[in-house]
Amino acid sequence: MGEPADRIVDVSVADGVARLTMRSGSVNALGRDLRRALAAALDRAAADPDVTAVLLLGQPRAFSAGADITEFKSTEPEVAGAGQPGQADAPDLRALVAQVEDFPKPVIAGITGVALGGGLELAMAAHARIAAPEARLGLPEITLGLIPGAGGTVRLPRLVGPHRALSMILTGKDVTAADALRDGLVDAVAEDPGAPRAVTDAIARVNALPARRTRDREDRIAEAAAAPGTVERLAGAALGKAKDPFAARAAVDAVAAGIEESFDRGLEVEREKFQERLASEESAAQRHLFAAERAARRPAGLDPEAARPVRRAGVVGAGTMGGGIAMALASAGIPVTVVEAERSALDRGLVQVDKNLAVSVSRGSRSEGDAAALRSLITGSLDYGDVADVDLVIEAAYEDLGVKQGIFAALDAVVPPDCILASNTSYLSIDVIAAGTRLRSRVLGLHFFSPANVMPLVEVVRGAATDAAALATGVATARRIGKTPVVVGVCHGFVGNRMLEVRSAQAEQLLLEGALPGQVDRVLKDFGFRMGPFEMGDMAGLDIGWRNRKAEGTTAPVSDALCEAGRFGQKTGAGYYAYDGREGREDPEVERLIVEVSHTQGVTRRDLSDAEILERLLFPMINEGARILAEGIAERAGDIDVIWVKGYNWPAYRGGPLWYAGHVGHGYVAERLRHYAEQTGDATLLPAGFLAGA
Ligand code: CAA
Repeated sequence: MGEPADRIVDVSVADGVARLTMRSGSVNALGRDLRRALAAALDRAAADPDVTAVLLLGQPRAFSAGADITEFKSTEPEVAGAGQPGQADAPDLRALVAQVEDFPKPVIAGITGVALGGGLELAMAAHARIAAPEARLGLPEITLGLIPGAGGTVRLPRLVGPHRALSMILTGKDVTAADALRDGLVDAVAEDPGAPRAVTDAIARVNALPARRTRDREDRIAEAAAAPGTVERLAGAALGKAKDPFAARAAVDAVAAGIEESFDRGLEVEREKFQERLASEESAAQRHLFAAERAARRPAGLDPEAARPVRRAGVVGAGTMGGGIAMALASAGIPVTVVEAERSALDRGLVQVDKNLAVSVSRGSRSEGDAAALRSLITGSLDYGDVADVDLVIEAAYEDLGVKQGIFAALDAVVPPDCILASNTSYLSIDVIAAGTRLRSRVLGLHFFSPANVMPLVEVVRGAATDAAALATGVATARRIGKTPVVVGVCHGFVGNRMLEVRSAQAEQLLLEGALPGQVDRVLKDFGFRMGPFEMGDMAGLDIGWRNRKAEGTTAPVSDALCEAGRFGQKTGAGYYAYDGREGREDPEVERLIVEVSHTQGVTRRDLSDAEILERLLFPMINEGARILAEGIAERAGDIDVIWVKGYNWPAYRGGPLWYAGHVGHGYVAERLRHYAEQTGDATLLPAGFLAGA
């Protein structure tokens, strides 16, 4: 059964050191075959009198990416990853970790690539760790709605202290080898962690230690252990900000037990909480997203081989989006030329880039050296001729079809035939934008989200004529700059904004019928969004939508009335809320205005329950998602979920709109949509696509 052990753990012995090299799959996920093979190799090394120490190694790409996620089935009692009885002859991960920690001879972990989750837990049980300079180490379990399940919550604080440990566990973010060395997570950084010299030094360090096992190291936790409540206090702010509040709470409880009670008690709490989280709907939702994000990288018709290398790029437009996109490209080492029509706009844009970089330096998220290197890759220009030698141009100009068509025609005339042309439009048709170019096949949409240097999503819009090279280059570039690309088709607003428009219309309607902005925003925040629609509107500014509506001859009575009263949002100190700086507060004047608009529209206001507000915000946009799927604008339901989680702050622990619909039941969503269609007389609310038959 399974792969032969010697193929997934290679063993060689030289100078008394047994080198156990894991090579299972692409990232050494600790599935049952690997666990079984490692345990057997360790047993042999323990018994071999010629072996005086063990060196645990992985692949250049990964020491290990942790427990095998594909073995997590919350409905099955037997989960091999952590805490449950292992299958047949394969130990569970905890037992393997204990075998390493209690090993009678020094065990050294040589970390190359990533050591994540169970992979880092295994390394933390070793008696010393050497990391390659480019290694990344982390406990990302919270991003799967889990907590570390193989001793991570009790061992990490013993190595790096409670404060750093909580920060890693609650954010799920990995750290560099240099940071790991500074914090005590690794003992040395070496170009080749398996080199004899590095290993001999590590063994000597281990032999000099008073206590070899991580579980016996108490110095870093002594202070917190002596003052119960310290862990809770240290967790404070991070607990509030955690993307999964349930897993965060569970993790803090395990960390506290491991420090304030004992190592073994910590392990017990960890095991209990891990099981609880594994069985939770929040974790199921986030594991769905992990798989959906990876499935989205393989859209139908994508040929990754067709991607062209992007050595240099151009960005047209130095506004907020253009500047952010330029920063995102430059942070991946791609030199960028930003083209603007006016000197003043160009200067303003570049000054803003400088400011953004200064902020990231002051926050410690970037070193001064990195910021300077990034900035040196961004050049400004007033001449399209300066992008004549680039491989990709991303247009991020004013959202106006005529303006964009003009830019594409101008670019088409100067760039070489194999240069890819992308538009960052958020609503307009890529096909119409491409219409004036000679080579429509090289045109596509790359729709970034603001701020573009931060937000992870890129909707890659495939036009009718977009060819394989353009699509593959768009997807590959998005990945290269650390974004999550999702391929979508052409329609007004693509996937994300098209669904957002439906939600916004409903939010406005709720105000007319009797709700106030504070209630609507609170309901969405209680659901898990970081902001409600009206707070979001005030932040973005209400005037753009108002002007667009005037141009289109449409209305949004409440928003229009606010704009007519000069309330454009935060920038004018008043919108749906009144502002002192960025702090908004409810404003009786807004209530008066809304009541007046309801009256003018002939609507009798009534009390709306939170439950109705939630359903009326979410179900119509889910319905729009069903239409989008039926039209083939998105390929899979999971693509829509990824877009909403990565681009619109849909809470990951609720899996995305279509996952959520499945969770509450398609039949229920359809029934409520029929009900609301009848109640409001709005036939667009009638169930569509797969919901129509539910
Ligand atoms: N288990 C199973 N499969 C995994 C995996 C894991 N832990 N990590 C990655 N893979 C798979 C991916 O699904 C992908 O498979 P396909 O090629 O079939 O799509 C393949 O390995 C390569 O992964 P990526 O496409 O994601 O490659 P990447 O280079 O973009 O990223 C990575 C590599 C950084 C390791 C990323 O995959 C990752 O973050 N993995 C998850 C790490 C993680 O969350 N580990 C914790 C697991 S839970 C745990 O360990 C619990 C515990 O405490 C006991």
